[in-house]
Amino acid sequence: MEQQHVLHRFFCSCPLSCSSISSRPISLFSHKGLLPLLALFLLLGVFLPWTRSPLIPFPNRGSSFPSNWRDYSLSQAAKFAAKNGTLIVYTVSYPFLPFLNNWLISVSIQKHQDKVLVIAEDYATLYKVNEKWPGHAVLIPPALDSKTPQNYGSQGFFKFTSRRPKHLLEILELGYSVMYNDVDMVWLQDPFTYLEGSHDVYFTDDRTEIKPLNHSHELPNGWLNICSCTIFLRPTNGSKLLMKKWIDELRVGSRANKGNDQPGFNRALRKTAHQVDVYLLPQEAFPTGGLYFRNKTWVRETKGKHVIVHNNFIKGFNNKMKRFHQFGLWLVDDHALESPLGKLE
Ligand SMILES: *[C@@H]1O[C@H](CO)[C@@H](O)[C@H](O)[C@H]1NC(C)=O
Ligand SMILES: *[C@@H]1O[C@H](CO)[C@@H](O)[C@H](O)[C@H]1NC(C)=O
Ligand SMILES: *[C@@H]1O[C@H](CO)[C@@H](O)[C@H](O)[C@H]1NC(C)=O
Ligand SMILES: *[C@@H]1O[C@H](CO)[C@@H](O)[C@H](O)[C@H]1NC(C)=O
Repeated sequence: MEQQHVLHRFFCSCPLSCSSISSRPISLFSHKGLLPLLALFLLLGVFLPWTRSPLIPFPNRGSSFPSNWRDYSLSQAAKFAAKNGTLIVYTVSYPFLPFLNNWLISVSIQKHQDKVLVIAEDYATLYKVNEKWPGHAVLIPPALDSKTPQNYGSQGFFKFTSRRPKHLLEILELGYSVMYNDVDMVWLQDPFTYLEGSHDVYFTDDRTEIKPLNHSHELPNGWLNICSCTIFLRPTNGSKLLMKKWIDELRVGSRANKGNDQPGFNRALRKTAHQVDVYLLPQEAFPTGGLYFRNKTWVRETKGKHVIVHNNFIKGFNNKMKRFHQFGLWLVDDHALESPLGKLE
């Protein structure tokens, strides 16, 4: 860990953060009269075998990664990406790569990018992400056709979303905590500080009615519309049970779901209510797009409290992108360098 920090500091180009370089390795080398560059190579030579810094193009390529990303398994990928037993998972198909980059920039600004694992829905995405950012993408077969964007409500979208609880369950079975995010989200603050207590599962409400700031964190009564977009799960029996129930509900209700996994998630929540310890995240921090993008007054009143914004309650790739632009949430143009993927042409 220490070595990795030293390396990061050597590589970093920003003078401000470089001013914090620990003096030990510097003085060690300068006393011996070596050029800084030589010192850097020495450091690389000494520490390369033990580091997996993303700044080194192919760290441990031979031992850590398979020769073809096709053979990179979920358990290998999870082991590589997880930090402190936790993963952040984002599922994406090729047409949505700009949204991945936008989201990833916002995650990087909160310094959580290291534990991101992208579940690629097609081989083009798998190769592209791993080319730019080795090890952070995995494909769990079967792959989808990569040509068309899977819009909400389409049959393709259903196949896409029905796999979500299966992937999450697999990750839980491997023993990791997991934060899942939908494709059309952006972080404004660090969500991890909101995961209070040690509940099995944390989620957000997709209903647009305004709640008091002190609203309850229990499963709401009455008609339920919990979002399947931001979910945090600990690897407990309760959350595994919920994922299994969700899979069952999608199987029996696939026609009624019309390509949306959310009703199944809500039925599963209702049916497991007494067996799973749940936590409803605060509305002002995790607002539905139906509130955030539609009520300026509310947004003003809750200014500074928003943590993750969800660009839902709107259909279509172009409309979502346009709305992100309009609200100053399209970070790709100005912050591409802050993404581990860099600029995607
Ligand atoms: C690591 O995980 C534990 C348990 O989930 C948590 O309490 C702790 O704050 C985490 N540490 C860091 C550095 O994130
Ligand atoms: C929220 O605050 C109001 C007014 O202070 C109070 O009447 C209500 O019981 C509180 N609700 C919860 C869930 O604590
Ligand atoms: C979770 O389930 C496993 C397998 O069914 C069981 O052995 C274990 O005791 C359970 N743990 C808790 C905390 O209930
Ligand atoms: C918008 O938000 C304000 C402030 O919270 C609230 O009073 C108003 O009822 C909301 N408007 C709608 C249409 O929900």
